[in-house]
This record gives sequence, C-alpha cells and structure tokens, in this order.
Amino acid sequence: MQSANYHHIIKVHDRYFTLYIDRETIHARLTEMARNIDADYAGLNPKFLVVLNGSFIFAADLLRLLRLDADLSFIKLSSYAGTTTTGHVSMQLGINEPLKDRHVIVVEDIIDTGLTLHSFVPILWEQEPASVKVVSLLVKPTALRCDVRADYHGFDIPEHFVVGYGLDYDGRGRNLEDIFRVVPDGFDLPDAV
Ligand code: XMP
Ligand code: MG
Repeated sequence: MQSANYHHIIKVHDRYFTLYIDRETIHARLTEMARNIDADYAGLNPKFLVVLNGSFIFAADLLRLLRLDADLSFIKLSSYAGTTTTGHVSMQLGINEPLKDRHVIVVEDIIDTGLTLHSFVPILWEQEPASVKVVSLLVKPTALRCDVRADYHGFDIPEHFVVGYGLDYDGRGRNLEDIFRVVPDGFDLPDAV
C-alpha cells in the first residue's frame, strides 16, 4: 500500500478525490483568459457555444469576467461514460440560431482525447461561421488523440480524472467549488476520511 498525507480529501460516489486546483487559482486564471479574449474579439460580438453539462460553471464565471459584448447558446454532446472515454459523440441539443458569419467560441470544460471536439467542430463549419475557436478550462495534453487544440485554456493537467467546478463523476460532484483529482487505487487513506 502507498500512503499519502492528504489534507483535502472528499468522497464522490464510490471514489476518493483530493483538492487539486482551488477556487482562487481558477478565478485568477479565468481573469487572465477573459482579458485575452476581450483583446482578441473587440468589436466582433462573438457567439459562445457552451457545451453542457460540464462547462456550465466555467462558462458562467468566464463570461461574467468579459467586458466585450457577447452572446451564447447551450449545446449538449455526449461522448463520455464514467471515467473512460467512449469515442462516440452525438449532439443532444441543436444550435438554434444561425452561425453564418459569426465568430464562434466553443466553451469546453476539458479536452481529454479530443474526440468530442474533433467530431463537433466540422459540424459547426457547415454553417459557415466567420471563425471557430475553442476555450477549454482544462487540457490533458498527453491524452490527446486528435488534431485539436484549445485556442485559450486554463490549465494543463496530467491524465488523472477530475471532478468539481462543473465536472462530474457519474453525475456527481459538479457543485464542488474547487477542482479535485481522483486518488488512485491502492492509496492508503487515513481512517478519518
Ligand atoms: P474528449 O476525450 O472527447 O473528452 O476530449 C471530452 C469530454 O470528456 C469528459 N472528461 C472528463 N470529465 N473529468 C470529468 O468529469 C475528467 O477528468 C474528464 N476527462 C474527460 C468531459 O465531459 C469532456 O467534455
Ligand atoms: Mg463535457
């Protein structure tokens, strides 16, 4: 058994998670991202496409930090079950407003294999937007299996499963204010947890 001196350990469903990125760190990084987006999109009235469910808290916080005039739609794709990616993508909520000639910014919670965006971005281009960029809170660079990239991103993380700040483990943990990462199997947890 390995052991670790964890201070912030929580249980979500049947797994233990440890504090990984706290809310102050997230807020500071989002402020920097918002300033970059403000600068790049001044006068362009971009349209944010927020990928539900995982991105809802990230999008709400990021958009409130923006100073530019922007609008948004919510979309829902599915590609993920439990903690391993399935590679299957389907769109559950359509885009209800025309994207033609719009500057589109897709808002994702996390890019893992990249399969989701790789399937989705070409669908957007069919509507002839002026541009398509991607903002993702988290990126797992070593997990990438497709030629996709985030034009703006918050944090690079290793291939650990994370929850909180909108991200879920089988539907749970989205309301946690910080980001937690899974404690690997075989770690010896203190009795008090
Ligand atoms: P792909 O592999 O298509 O995956 O880039 C993107 C989607 O997978 C989900 N995902 C996660 N969700 N913790 C989560 O709660 C994670 O560590 C994680 N890794 C990937 C997520 O829904 C994302 O949109
Ligand atoms: Mg997601």
